[in-house]
Amino acid sequence: MRRYQWILAIVLAVAPGLAQPSDAREGARNSSEAQFFPASGERGMVSSQDALASRVGAQILASGGNAIDAAVATGFALAVTLPRAGNLGGGGFMMIHLAATGKTIAIDYREMAPSAASPEMFLTSDGDVDRTKILGSGLASGVPGTVAGLVHVQRRYGRLPLIDVLSPAIALARNGFKVPYALADSLEKSKKRLQADAGSAAYFYKPSGVVYVQGETLVQTDLADTLSRISKFGAEGFYQGAVAEKIVAQMARSGGVITRQDLKNYRVVEREPVCGNYREHQVCSMPPPSSGGIHLVQMLNILEGWNLRALGHNSADYIHRLAASMQRAYADRSQYLGDPDFVDVPQSRLTDKRYAESLRQQIDVKHAIASAEVAPGLREQRVESTETTHFSTWDAEGNAVSNTYTLNWAYGSGVAVIGAGFLLNNEMDDFAAKPGARNSYNLVGGEANAIAPAKRPLSSMTPALVFDKKGLPLLATGSPGGSTIITVVLQVVLNFLDFNMNIAEATAAPRIHYQWIPDQLYYEVGISKDTLHRLKNMGHNIGATPRRLGAANSIAAKPNGGTSGIADYRREDAAAVAESIRD
Ligand code: GLY
Repeated sequence: MRRYQWILAIVLAVAPGLAQPSDAREGARNSSEAQFFPASGERGMVSSQDALASRVGAQILASGGNAIDAAVATGFALAVTLPRAGNLGGGGFMMIHLAATGKTIAIDYREMAPSAASPEMFLTSDGDVDRTKILGSGLASGVPGTVAGLVHVQRRYGRLPLIDVLSPAIALARNGFKVPYALADSLEKSKKRLQADAGSAAYFYKPSGVVYVQGETLVQTDLADTLSRISKFGAEGFYQGAVAEKIVAQMARSGGVITRQDLKNYRVVEREPVCGNYREHQVCSMPPPSSGGIHLVQMLNILEGWNLRALGHNSADYIHRLAASMQRAYADRSQYLGDPDFVDVPQSRLTDKRYAESLRQQIDVKHAIASAEVAPGLREQRVESTETTHFSTWDAEGNAVSNTYTLNWAYGSGVAVIGAGFLLNNEMDDFAAKPGARNSYNLVGGEANAIAPAKRPLSSMTPALVFDKKGLPLLATGSPGGSTIITVVLQVVLNFLDFNMNIAEATAAPRIHYQWIPDQLYYEVGISKDTLHRLKNMGHNIGATPRRLGAANSIAAKPNGGTSGIADYRREDAAAVAESIRD
C-alpha cells in the first residue's frame, strides 16, 4: 500500500431537520450547480451502515484504492462488524460507474437455488408453505454469491491486490472490535433465534449465552480464517476446499441441500443496467432478478407526467400520486418478474414511457382506487423488517459504486457454518414458494418467480446511480427494507431531483410506503395530521406507522467537485466517512 497520512471525518447519523452532509469540501448542492461535477483531484467518500466499515473503505481510498476497492473492503468489513446484514453467506447487487469509459455495469451476485431445489420443496401435505423450513432451516439458504461477487469486481475493476482490501476485515475479525450500540441491541433482540443454533450461539454470544454489551470486544477467529483463505485463494478459497467442506457439513447438520458441486457452479453475472430518463436526468439501477430497477424507472415514468414540485413535498396530492404509482408497479411485480435466465421478463414494456402514460391515465388524482380493482390479491398486515444493508463509495476520479447485499432476514436463517464463522441466508423465501401466496414481506409472486434449480429469487434491492445530462454521476443511493426498498429509493431520488434537497435533507425527509397488497398506505412520523386526514378522505387506508422505512446510505456529487455523503439517521452507528489526505 502507498503510505499517506490521512484523517477521517465522520459526521452524520443525525436527527431530521439537523442533517448536514459529510462534505469533502464546503458548500451545499443545488440541482443547477450539480451539473459541474467533478474537478479532478477531489476526494472520495464511503457511506455505510457501520462506522467501522465506512472507515475501512475510506482508508482504502486514502491508500490509493479506487471506489471499487473501497466497496469490496467495506463489504468484507461489514461481514465482520454488521453480522445481521453484512455477509459472506448471502448475496446482492452492485452498480459500478467507471469514470474512464463512462460505462455503468450491473453486477448480479444474487444467491442461486441449489440443484436439489424444486417448486414443492416448502409445501406441506396441505399445500401450505412451511414457514419454519423456508426461513429458519438449512433448506432456507440459496448458494451464497457475496464472495464470488466481491472478488469478481475487485479483480476486474479494482486497483489494489486482493490481500490489501481484505486485510482490514481480517484484522477486525481476528483482533476483535468494540461492539457498537446497534450490534449489542440487535444481538439482545435476536437472542432466542440465534441461540437456537449452536454455531450462532458460539460466534455471537459469550459462554452461557451472555450478550455482549456496547464497548466489549467481539473476536471472530473462524471468520478471520475464512477471510484469510479468500485473501489467499480468491473465490476458490470459499467455494472449494476447507470452507466449502464446512458449508456442506453444516448442510448435513441443519437439513440443507447445498452440495460441493452447487458451490463450484456458482456464477456472478454482469448485466446491462436498467436505465430511464427522468426529466433532465438518467436513473440507472439493477435489472432482474431484481425488481428494483424496472419498478423504479416505471414509477418515475408515471410520476414524470405531473409537476410534483408544484404539488408540494409530502402534500396529500403528492403522496396520493406516489401511492397510486406504487400500486401499479407492485401489481406488475407480482406477475411479470423473475430470474431473466429462466423467464422472459417484459422489461422494455414495463419501462416504456407510453405504458407509464396509460397507467397514469388510469389514476384518479382525487380518489384512491382499491387494490382489488387494480388486480386481484390477498390482504395482510405487513411487518417492517430490518434486514439487508446498502453502502455507496465514490473516488476522486468519479468512479462510483452503489451496493446492496443481504442475508434476507436479519441474521438470515440464523444458521452459522460451524468452523467457518459466518451466517447463511434465508433467501429461498424470496421465491414464490406457492405462486399467489405471500412471502414474509407480504409480496405476492407469480409463476415467473417459482423455485427451480440454479434459479435466482426475485429481489427488491435497488442500488441506484443518477446521472446528469452529460452522463456524469450525481448520486449513488440505495436502501435496505425488504419490499419497501424500491419506494424508499424512489423518494430519495425525487427529493433530490424534484425538490432540490441536498442529500442530507433528501434522506431525512419522512417517507411513505405502499405496495398494492396489502391495500395500506404506511407513513413515517413527520407527515402532518392534516395531510393524513386528506389522504383518508381521498379513500386511502392509512396503515400503522412503522418505526422507520429503509436506511439510505448515499453519496452525491458536489457542485464544484468532491462529494457529500450521508448515512441514514434511521440506523444507529451508520456513518459517512470522507477520505482526507494530508501531505
Ligand atoms: N431479501 C430481500 C430482497 O432481496 O429484496
